[in-house]
Amino acid sequence: MEPPLTPQFRDLWLKKGALLAPMAGFTDGAMRRICHQAGAALTYTEMVNAIGLVRGSSKTWHLLTTLPGEGGVVAHLYGAHPTEMADAAVAVWQSGRFVALDINAGCPMKKITANGCGAALMKQPEKIGAMVAAMRAATPLPVTVKTRIGLVPDTILSFEILRAVEEAGAAAITVHGRFAAKFHSGPVAFETLAAIKAAARIPVIGNGGINSSAAADVMLRETGVDGVMVGQGAMGNPWLFSEIAAMMSGGAAEEAGEMERRTVGEICAMFERHVAASLELQELINAAAAEPEQRRDPESVVATGFRCHLFRYFAGVPGAAKLRGEMSTLRSIEAMRAAIARHLKPTNVN
Ligand SMILES: Cc1cc2nc3c(=O)[nH]c(=O)nc-3n(C[C@H](O)[C@H](O)[C@H](O)COP(=O)(O)O)c2cc1C
Repeated sequence: MEPPLTPQFRDLWLKKGALLAPMAGFTDGAMRRICHQAGAALTYTEMVNAIGLVRGSSKTWHLLTTLPGEGGVVAHLYGAHPTEMADAAVAVWQSGRFVALDINAGCPMKKITANGCGAALMKQPEKIGAMVAAMRAATPLPVTVKTRIGLVPDTILSFEILRAVEEAGAAAITVHGRFAAKFHSGPVAFETLAAIKAAARIPVIGNGGINSSAAADVMLRETGVDGVMVGQGAMGNPWLFSEIAAMMSGGAAEEAGEMERRTVGEICAMFERHVAASLELQELINAAAAEPEQRRDPESVVATGFRCHLFRYFAGVPGAAKLRGEMSTLRSIEAMRAAIARHLKPTNVN
């Protein structure tokens, strides 16, 4: 079956800039909006449990809260059964907030694979195909799949997965060029990504290790993939998306570090924007809460949840180590601001 939405997917999203990878605990509406405004062509939600959505769990639905001004967002779902994924797909589509649905077929975390989800699906390409087919039959949204080159070194599984999802009508496939056993670090198998791209009839999105526009450029040139997805490189560095978008439209490619010409003042301004978006997000979650006891104080949610972003924003700035050392003691946004003012010198990064 020829996937009808494939050319649109490539032209609409993949040629314009890099995609923000799904990252549990990070890519909430606030980070997605910051990255979209910086130039991300498309962003992905954190992974969301299909059964939780179908059962109407408010905790699960809160993960799909979107902010105004986010641009195109893909709902990234995990599950073990095509029918539950299709039911979840319908609910997500009916929310009217997402431009595509993505299947998680690569998460190596035990709590996910133990239930037959994430990377566990890689052993059953036909099941991933059945999920794509069921979700496509149930909704008009493009359905994509995010997977890896294999589970353990030397056993490449992504060709079988590509075949199965292509047959089922997937609009695109994202391949993280590492084995599941390697989690999120280590070398990225460019030659395998290139071979998958060469074998594919649908757009292939390459992922893994992109921390500069030069790295994105190398992946695009050496593998021929149709688009690139950035994960950890975007943490504390939304500017990376504007660098990659500029490179993709003919500008110069910059090495990591070369582009770190930002002043502490610029980083502080981005930090404030991200904090404000995070507060706005929690207000929206509170407003949607069915019971008053489900509402949480936005200030304290953000003060705790923002620590993972804070030290990444200021990594490399003189004084950042001291800030990091104090991180666990910072219990309010004001305390974060005070620690930044105390430790970080208002000079250029380099
Ligand atoms: C904290 C964290 C959470 C992640 N959560 C997910 C997830 O929910 N679903 C998924 O498919 N991949 C997840 N990933 C993997 C990323 O999407 C990406 O594939 C991986 O980090 C490799 O890209 P990078 O080298 O650019 O970081 C996660 C990675 C990190 C570091």
